[in-house]
Amino acid sequence: MTRYSVWLVSCTLLCQVVTAQVTSSKTPDATDKKVAALLAKMTLEEKIGQLNQYTGDRITATGPLGKPIDKVQQVREGKIGSLLNVKGVAETRKMQEAAMESRLKIPLLFGLDVIHGYKVTFPIPLAEAASWDLAAIENAARIAGKEAAAAGLHWTFAPMVDISRDPRWGRVMEGAGEDPYLGSLIAKARVKGFQGAGLGDTAAVMACVKHFAAYGAAIAGRDYNTVDMSPRLLWEVYLPPFKAALDAGAATFMNSFNELNGVPATASSYLQRDILKGKWNFKGFVVSDWNSIGEMVPHGFAADRADAARLAITAGSDMDMESHSYIDHLQKLVTDKKVSIALIDDAVSRILRKKFELGLFDDPFRFSNEAREKKIVNAPEHKAAARDMARKSIVLLKNENGLLPLSTDKKIAVIGPLAKSKTDMKGFWSVKWNDEDELVSLYEGLEARVGKDALLYAKGCGIKDSSRAGFDEAVATAAKADIVVLAVGETFDMSGEAKSRANIHLPGIQEELVKALHATGKPVVVLVMAGRPLIFNWTADHAPAIVYTWWLGTEAGHAMADVLFGNYNPSGKLPMSFPRSEGQIPVYYNYNNTGRPSSNDKDINYRSAYIDMPNSPRYAFGYGLSYTGFKYDALNLSTEKLQRKDPLQVSFTLTNTGKYAGEEVVQLYIRDMVASVVRPVKELKGFQKIMLRPGESKTISFRLTEADLSFYNNDLKKITEAGTFKLMIGSASNDIRLEKSFELIN
Ligand code: GLC
Repeated sequence: MTRYSVWLVSCTLLCQVVTAQVTSSKTPDATDKKVAALLAKMTLEEKIGQLNQYTGDRITATGPLGKPIDKVQQVREGKIGSLLNVKGVAETRKMQEAAMESRLKIPLLFGLDVIHGYKVTFPIPLAEAASWDLAAIENAARIAGKEAAAAGLHWTFAPMVDISRDPRWGRVMEGAGEDPYLGSLIAKARVKGFQGAGLGDTAAVMACVKHFAAYGAAIAGRDYNTVDMSPRLLWEVYLPPFKAALDAGAATFMNSFNELNGVPATASSYLQRDILKGKWNFKGFVVSDWNSIGEMVPHGFAADRADAARLAITAGSDMDMESHSYIDHLQKLVTDKKVSIALIDDAVSRILRKKFELGLFDDPFRFSNEAREKKIVNAPEHKAAARDMARKSIVLLKNENGLLPLSTDKKIAVIGPLAKSKTDMKGFWSVKWNDEDELVSLYEGLEARVGKDALLYAKGCGIKDSSRAGFDEAVATAAKADIVVLAVGETFDMSGEAKSRANIHLPGIQEELVKALHATGKPVVVLVMAGRPLIFNWTADHAPAIVYTWWLGTEAGHAMADVLFGNYNPSGKLPMSFPRSEGQIPVYYNYNNTGRPSSNDKDINYRSAYIDMPNSPRYAFGYGLSYTGFKYDALNLSTEKLQRKDPLQVSFTLTNTGKYAGEEVVQLYIRDMVASVVRPVKELKGFQKIMLRPGESKTISFRLTEADLSFYNNDLKKITEAGTFKLMIGSASNDIRLEKSFELIN
């Protein structure tokens, strides 16, 4: 068969699939009929215009820029269906007015990366994940969505749900960490938050689940790099959060830059048609990532952008973000019969449907209300929520001899390159604004709590430079204080997109500063601020107290003060493992046992272990301390012989054994001891965040079903198998307090 005839056959087959995907849906509803009626009036050029998305603002562009064009005129001509990076009622209204001058007056969609806040900035998503507080995470997204919608936006390019086991990858800051179970629940919470009461509500925006798929598994943690994995790993670890987000009603998806097993995601019919629009029956639309269609040429998958346009539309990539491939080439591809009009109509219909659902055809300016924008954006109650989310995101890593919380009668030396930083508190992927005085630095937070007279300050050193010129002043300042609070870490833009780091140690000579201050003999509380897990082994061994604060957003300083002075008892737990060395990466809790497992860090003889370093991470998934302590006992299972159809009821008693009220994230893990494919030594299958007063006890219950015990076999079937399971309850993945085994019987 010639190449052309192969192509013709596959095109025909594909058209059948696409037609099936479009027409197999339920009886056309009112919106379907409106879409069909509008589609029938559209010229081919107008249809292709709907598939074309440009950045409105070249200053805040979030990717490489193409040639400057007159976008207002192109909007008037119906050649643009969506703009990103246009924000605010005034700016969006102006562009929408241009759209109303087009022949069919099809309204524009306005999208923006409202990843962790619009004007009020919340902690970066990885920090929020450390809260394990799904209600708080949903609320943060709800507020972000409300502010975005009030600012004339219809669509946020969030949540990012990429699982990642590699902290060298800068975009770990944007996700929910390494675990598919936690990541799936957080994905669902964020979609529900952004979309609120549903599309059409002027306080809701469309969510956009990204990056589909497996972008977080880039080899060597290098952004945009190759992803190569077994289909089973893809289904077991990387797809679940996408399915959870889709089940939560996500309106749109965004594909990813990476190639997966040799096929760029943007051109992957397997991902976008077989799985997303086929098996998962997704009725929304897929937007490409920035220029990901055009990038199929450098990938070596498309000969040119015309070829890329054909491959992408065929694979189910509906809207072209900033590659200009669709607007430049689709018309000729259709007239040359290289692309079926059915593909175009399916993509356009999906996009028009969302515009109808948002109510934009009823009133294209319904999101453009200046009074509402003034009232909602940056509202005080939003800052209060951001402070609460920030407190809950902080992770206490070490607290020797109860050094923390601080009493307010101490002279405190606030030292370090991040002690007075405001810019960095916003983290990467914050919406760009000119004013930074909205951001509260650590110093400002402490000053608000204890007053200026209680504080001394010295910078000590820079973040990336190697100058020790500030050390003497820092040491002298420490000598005058009772205690040192030292703020070290990265800059906000050392993590994020295209911010991979091969060396994730504390940058510069900051750990030398830690040593110099430790040598003064004054107690040093080290705050580490970063968008990713960092390596700081000397500090971890020697500092008496360590607090991981990530990037906490607008209310950062107040939240840190709340924790340092005990107004809030830290409750965060790590959503990612922290390596001791880059050489350990990938290091994650749900690993397989291997045939020569290491029973402890010293068991290395003919073991799956390093001879030069412990196997274990520096800090484990699920780890985080409190100012109080918790006792776990009286684990009870409803049965030790579980029938498949029956749920397993699990209960135990949790007691606050300390003197502070506090929250504990109790974690439930299982291990399938023997299976037809090797199962991990632990899999998170439940957690609860429990508040207890000092001395208080509560009975905590979980309910497991057969689905919780299932896994994908090598035929990609989700199955469970009879046999022994270990059930573990713990305070961290490496701190199991209770365990029992049970049999799953046929
Ligand atoms: C970027 C990111 C994506 C973002 C988009 C628009 O390159 O990969 O996450 O939503 O472009 O800014």
